[in-house]
Amino acid sequence: MINDKLLNWFDQNKRDLPWRHYRDPYRVWVSEIMLQQTQVKTVVPYFQRWMKRYPTLKTLKNANYEDVLKMWEGLGYYSRCKNIYKTSQLINCSLPNNYQDLIKLPGIGDYTAKTILSIAFELPYVGIDTNLERVGYRILGLKSKTKRNHKRVVKFLEANQDKNRPGDYNEALMDLGSSICSSQTTYCTECPLSKDCRAYVSLSPTSYPKSGISKKVPEYNVAVSLIKHKNKFLITRRSNTKFLSGLWEFPGGKIEKSETARQAIIREVKEETNLNIFNPTYLGNVKHKYSHFGVNISLFISSPESIKKLNIKQEHKWINLKSIDKYPLPKANHKMLDILQKFY
Ligand code: ADE
Repeated sequence: MINDKLLNWFDQNKRDLPWRHYRDPYRVWVSEIMLQQTQVKTVVPYFQRWMKRYPTLKTLKNANYEDVLKMWEGLGYYSRCKNIYKTSQLINCSLPNNYQDLIKLPGIGDYTAKTILSIAFELPYVGIDTNLERVGYRILGLKSKTKRNHKRVVKFLEANQDKNRPGDYNEALMDLGSSICSSQTTYCTECPLSKDCRAYVSLSPTSYPKSGISKKVPEYNVAVSLIKHKNKFLITRRSNTKFLSGLWEFPGGKIEKSETARQAIIREVKEETNLNIFNPTYLGNVKHKYSHFGVNISLFISSPESIKKLNIKQEHKWINLKSIDKYPLPKANHKMLDILQKFY
C-alpha cells in the first residue's frame, strides 16, 4: 500500500492553497470548476476574489449574472461560469453529497464529481485527472496509453486509497503529480513512492507513459474594428455559443483567403451591423492563443458617417471607453485596448 507514505509526505509538503484552508462543499465545488483545464497559480487570485464577493451559495444565488461573469473574466472556458451560476439557481441550499445527483449538475463530469465527493464529503472516490493518471502509469511502469492500462491505473489508485482520508489522498496525488512527478521533470530522490515505482527503477521515469503526438493548433487571421460614433464605441455581446459565451467584443470576423484585412473588416462590419465604414484606420496587430486555436487580429478604427441603418441581431451597446471595465471581454480584446491606449 502506498497511502501511508504518501499521506506522511503530504502532511509535510502540502501546498497552501486558499480552497484548502477549510473544506466547505461550496468552496470545493467552485475551486474544482475553476481548476478544470486551468493551472493552480492562475486560479488562486480568481478564487480569492470570488470568495470575497460570493462567500456562500446564497450570495451567488442572489447575484446578477453580468457581475458574476465579470468575476470570471480572463479565466477562460466561460461556459464553466454559466454552469456555476445555473447550478446556484438550481440547488436549494447545499450541494448534493452523492454521485448520482452531483453528476446531473451542469459542468460536473465524472472527474469533478468524484473529486468533490472525496474532498468535500470524505467519501471513498478518487478523481483521476492527468496528474494522478501519470503517477499511476509510472508507479505501475506502464508505457502505452491504452484503455486497458487506464483501467489498471484506476483500479490501482482506487485500491490504495486511504478510506479514512479520501480527500487528502486525492490532493496528495495531485501535489505529487504537479511537483515531484510532473510530465517533463521528476525529482525521484524526494519522492515518497520511489521504492514502489517501476518507472523510477527504469531510470527513465519521464518516458512513462509514452507521450502522444501533440496536435498543432490552427491560427486564424481576423479583422476587428473599433467603431466610434460621437465619442462612443460599439460593443456586441456573444450569444450563448460554447466559446466565450456571453462576453462582449468589438465587431469583426475572419479574413477570407481572397481578401485583405481592410476589405474583410468593411465586409464584416456590414454583415454584422449593416453599417458602412469607408476608411478604416489600421491601429496594429494583436496575437492571442486560445486553447484550441490562435488568432492574429488586424485592429482598425472607423467612424461611420451615420448610424441610422444600424441593424444588429445580437445584444449591443454604445459605450464610453471609460466604462469598458464594467463589461467582461475576451483576453484578445484587452490586448486591443492596450493598443488603443497608445493613441488616446
Ligand atoms: N487540481 C484540481 N483540483 C485540485 C486541488 N484540489 N488542489 C490542487 N490542484 C488541483
